[in-house]
Amino acid sequence: MPLAVRPGILDIAPYVGGEAGLAGQKKVIRLASNENPLGPSPAAVEAYRGLATELHRYPDGGAQVLREAIGRRFGLDPARVVCGAGSDELIALIMRAYAGPGDEVLYSRHGFLMYPIAAMSVGATPVAAPETNLAADVDALLAAVTPRTRIVFLANPNNPTGSYLPGEEVARLRNGLREDILLVIDAAYAEYVTRNDYDSGAALVDAGDNVVMTRTFSKIYGLAALRLGWAYCPASVADVIHRVRGPFNVGAPAQAAGVAALGDLAHVDQARLHNARWLVWFSQQVAALGLTAAPSVGNFVLLRFPSDSGRNADAAHAFLNARGIIPRKMGAYGLGDSLRITIGLESDMKAVVAALGDFVGERT
Ligand SMILES: Cc1ncc(COP(=O)(O)O)c(C=O)c1O
Repeated sequence: MPLAVRPGILDIAPYVGGEAGLAGQKKVIRLASNENPLGPSPAAVEAYRGLATELHRYPDGGAQVLREAIGRRFGLDPARVVCGAGSDELIALIMRAYAGPGDEVLYSRHGFLMYPIAAMSVGATPVAAPETNLAADVDALLAAVTPRTRIVFLANPNNPTGSYLPGEEVARLRNGLREDILLVIDAAYAEYVTRNDYDSGAALVDAGDNVVMTRTFSKIYGLAALRLGWAYCPASVADVIHRVRGPFNVGAPAQAAGVAALGDLAHVDQARLHNARWLVWFSQQVAALGLTAAPSVGNFVLLRFPSDSGRNADAAHAFLNARGIIPRKMGAYGLGDSLRITIGLESDMKAVVAALGDFVGERT
């Protein structure tokens, strides 16, 4: 008799991360995973190294120093901050605690792929609401709510579309949801946003008992390898997540590097400024090539290609790969006509624009 897997698990299409290398190419330009091209803060690297001789010790399971540093940096109550092995782990823990078979988990059509995956892994049903112009649509989300809805996930800004909802719209979403529905605002890219009407969601968390905001050290802090994220929660939700998480779910080097990264404001500013500059430049350059770039407030751009073979996204992907450039394919998001390109170093962006110019030029 084969082992019995819980219903629904084998329906999950496993998450495929961005490629790190290309066969036969020594030097590649990695623009597939929205990583910080400037790397981590030197202070974070030093803190990480500082723990090299302490690897036999368990970490602080309560991540107290890190939670206090997060609290100070963002003006939040550290007692309601829960740390995790990347925000991915927090998404999974929230799902495990609040949804199960028979429940629905709502997200927007091109929301982050881990929402449906995590929902299915607990036996819940993921429900995708339609979007308007590749952005979450509050009315469509509210219209998709049913008596079975337990959690609504909103990536703000959203990956892979780069779109965002103004704070007022997020509040309208919360106000339109039943009180027994948890709203999770995934603000993984919050630090990159330079719009006045954007709000990461912390105030909404404080305003009630049913909003959680998740954040990550994988993006602007440049610590993706360490797997470090956090959630800001109502006290009751923090209590629940602590019950289901592993006792030592965040390693000591990650905690130490996170504290140091939070202290290096200049590094974060530099990364934000770099991104703002090259995001605008890249978007203008690709538009001049006749490609459609979705407006983005994150550190990546979703580029749409024509549908005819030879000029489509797959052909562009192969062409860029041949030049040692790794963008992200978007088929898993139902955006097979698009590629997502992370904002890299100046030289990376110039190489991508030159390659895309040749790709478009050779085909007109
Ligand atoms: C919207 C969003 N949320 C969460 C994550 C997960 O980040 P991590 O688990 O590295 O913190 C990502 C990573 O790409 C993301 O794009």
